[in-house]
Amino acid sequence: MSSKTNQQWGGRFNEPTDAFVARFTASVEFDQRMYRQDIQGSVAHATMLTEAGVLTVAERDMIIQGLADIRADIEAGRFEWSIALEDVHMNIEAALTEKIGITGKKLHTGRSRNDQVATDIRLYLRDEIDLILLEITRLQQGLLGLAEQEADTIMPGFTHLQTAQPVTFGHHLMAWFEMLSRDYDRFLDTRKRVNIMPLGAAALAGTTYPIQRDITCKLLGFDTPAENSLDAVSDRDFAIEFCAASSILLMHMTRMSEELVLWTSAQFNFINLPDRFCTGSSIMPQKKNPDVPELVRGKSGRVYGHLFSLLTLMKSQPLAYNKDNQEDKEPLFDTIDTVKGCLRAYADMVPALESRKEYMREAALRGFSTATDLADYLVRKGMPFRDAHEVVGKSVAYGIETGKDLGEMSLAELQKFSDTIGDDIFDVLTLEGSVAARNHIGGTAPDQVRAAVKRGQEKLTQRG
Ligand code: ARG
Repeated sequence: MSSKTNQQWGGRFNEPTDAFVARFTASVEFDQRMYRQDIQGSVAHATMLTEAGVLTVAERDMIIQGLADIRADIEAGRFEWSIALEDVHMNIEAALTEKIGITGKKLHTGRSRNDQVATDIRLYLRDEIDLILLEITRLQQGLLGLAEQEADTIMPGFTHLQTAQPVTFGHHLMAWFEMLSRDYDRFLDTRKRVNIMPLGAAALAGTTYPIQRDITCKLLGFDTPAENSLDAVSDRDFAIEFCAASSILLMHMTRMSEELVLWTSAQFNFINLPDRFCTGSSIMPQKKNPDVPELVRGKSGRVYGHLFSLLTLMKSQPLAYNKDNQEDKEPLFDTIDTVKGCLRAYADMVPALESRKEYMREAALRGFSTATDLADYLVRKGMPFRDAHEVVGKSVAYGIETGKDLGEMSLAELQKFSDTIGDDIFDVLTLEGSVAARNHIGGTAPDQVRAAVKRGQEKLTQRG
């Protein structure tokens, strides 16, 4: 980075900025990633100023050409960013003046860095939200494919991480799908509040030039200009909201991760994660570690942290713009990068998950997972549910004592606990009978899983 002196606001100053203060207050090292949005905003602003009669057509064209050249320089790695020029906005503006001369100095008419930066962040975040939405959809597509394949696969369902009732693996995967559908909707909803245009608010009070905000709004694809100039330059609630949606998404991903970590362990052995998503140990040759799920689980920490950074950053800030707000970018950018990385890793990995059906089944057979089915059976034969609960409790105690699952007991053994039990009991004590009986919307029956997959596919198609 060079340290060209700052011409932009030098007028009222008697001495140059202290070298450390210049570095301390600069944001160019991290806000340069918004260069495209900064140029996009400036092109729209110059176009509008021409419509408003503030710039001539020739001036506008020079500005637009100059900005296009700067963009090309940046993308070719030819652009020299300067700390002394503080941020992306002043770096680009100074470069423009260097390229096209005095006309470059007219670009900032009727605008301030305060509305400029707020506009840039919103444009940047909007683009990133669109990518995140696509990536959530890709992950959900993977889940649908896998759920369809695994609609009949039986595994134990857990509460308190203790075997509860048999479920189908497809049903479990569709629970993840549902979580992600709500995350998708949260990002989409956040996007509405991101896509509002601060440009025109200028420093805080608006501008004396005859600006036409509807023109810039349309050119930049914003839904509407911000209603209040003070609010427009100051609030970063949209970034907080994005981090909140991201935190919830990451929270969901930690839950998936935790299950994958458990399931890939030798103790569960429900899932095989292909080697390309795992790493080994430098000391223990037998190890294959589920790094991707573990890392995603860990990355939730920084995203929650960024949410709290931004909440704290905004807390108690008086209107309107304060330099505090420069601190919005790093947490926001890191949240974006983290969310995209986690989604990408998962969207790549999920379709490659391989179930180990024999182990899932074996685990479901242990742990009396069809105990509720036995109780429901007794209720259908006329026994009050509480009494049925008692009968089953006793049969389970007997099973623990003798090392037999309910389905492994003889009819005579079962009848010791209730003579209402007939030989039709074995239909409900099998794992297949148990899951197939939960045949209603939202239930675990294989047919219901297939129907849920179909509805899920329709939902994704409607997203376009
Ligand atoms: N780099 C600043 C930021 O990120 C741009 C706005 C600066 N405005 C100001 N009045 N100092 O917020």
